[in-house]
Amino acid sequence: MHHSTYHRPVMAGEVMRLLGDVERGTVIDATYGGGGHATLLAEAGHRVVAFDRDPDVPAPGPGITLVPRPFGEMGDALDELGVGAIAGALFDLGVSSHQLDEGERGFSYRDPGPLDMRMDRHGATSAGTIVNEWPEADIARVLRDFGEERFSRRIASAIVAARPIADTVALSRIVTDAIPAATRRTGGHPARRTFQALRIAVNDELGELQRGLDAALARLAEGGRCVVISYHSLEDRIVKRRFAEEATGCVCPPEFPTCQCGRTARATLLTRKPIRPSEQEVASNPRARSALLRAVERNAA
Ligand SMILES: C[S@@+](CC[C@H](N)C(=O)[O-])C[C@H]1O[C@@H](n2cnc3c(N)ncnc32)[C@H](O)[C@@H]1O
Repeated sequence: MHHSTYHRPVMAGEVMRLLGDVERGTVIDATYGGGGHATLLAEAGHRVVAFDRDPDVPAPGPGITLVPRPFGEMGDALDELGVGAIAGALFDLGVSSHQLDEGERGFSYRDPGPLDMRMDRHGATSAGTIVNEWPEADIARVLRDFGEERFSRRIASAIVAARPIADTVALSRIVTDAIPAATRRTGGHPARRTFQALRIAVNDELGELQRGLDAALARLAEGGRCVVISYHSLEDRIVKRRFAEEATGCVCPPEFPTCQCGRTARATLLTRKPIRPSEQEVASNPRARSALLRAVERNAA
C-alpha cells in the first residue's frame, strides 16, 4: 500500500519547522505509522530511528531504522542500538487512519469488527477481555478515567448485563442505549468516549506516554527538541506537565537574596499554549481536527 493512503501526516509543516533544522543527528520518530513524518525527517538529512508497536506498518525507506517495539521501551532499545544523545524526538500519538479503517482491528465504533483494539496484535488484554471478563467496577473506572465519561457506571452496568458482547457493533449499541436520550444528541457519537477509554486501557497508552517522554527527554542533546502531537486532553495534560517540569527553574521564594534550591531549568518551552492545525488542514484532513502540538528545547548545560 502507498504510504500516503495509509495515513496523512498531521501538522507536517509545523513539525518540520521545529525538527527540520535542529543540529544534524539522530531523530526519534516514536510513532512511525505510515512513515509520513519519518520520511520528511530523513529527507531533511537526519538519521531517523522510528518506533511502532504495530507489525503491519509499511517498510521504511532509506535513512530510517524501524524498531518494532512500543516507544515505552525506547531507552532500552536505543541502548541496544548504541544510540546515545539525540537531536530530536517526535510523538504523533494515537492510532493511524489505516488502523481505524481496518474494521477487523476493532478500533472503530462505526465499522463492524471484533472487540480487539490491540495495537501490537498480541497483547494479553483485548477490548473483549475488558468488556466480557472484567468486574463492573473496573470497567466503570476505565470509562471514567480514560474516557472522561459522565455515565461510566450506567454504561458499565449495561455492559455486564449484556454479556457476552460479540463485536464493536453490539458494544456501540449497548453504550448508546445506556446513555440518557436527552444527552445522546450532544458531543459526537455516544460510544466515542467508551471506545477511546478501552483503547487507552488495552494499550496502556498513558503509561507508554510517560515512559516514552522520560526516555526521549533523558537523551536530548543541547539544542535538541522534543515535539508531541496529542489528540485528547488526557494525553495533552501529561505532555504539558512533563514539559513544565523540564522547564521549571529556580523555585526559591522571591525574598531569598540568592538561590537555595539549586534548580536550573533544563529546557525551554517552545509552545506556551498548544499549536493547533490550520483551518485548511482540518478541512482537507478531518483527522487533524483535535491535534494539539507542544514542543520543548534542551538548554545548554
Ligand atoms: C497517528 S499514527 C502516526 C502517523 C505517522 N506520524 C505518519 O506520519 O504516518 C500513530 C502510530 O503510533 C503507533 N503507536 C501508538 N502508540 C505506540 C506505542 N506506545 N509504541 C509504539 N508505537 C505506538 C500506532 O501503532 C500508529 O501506527
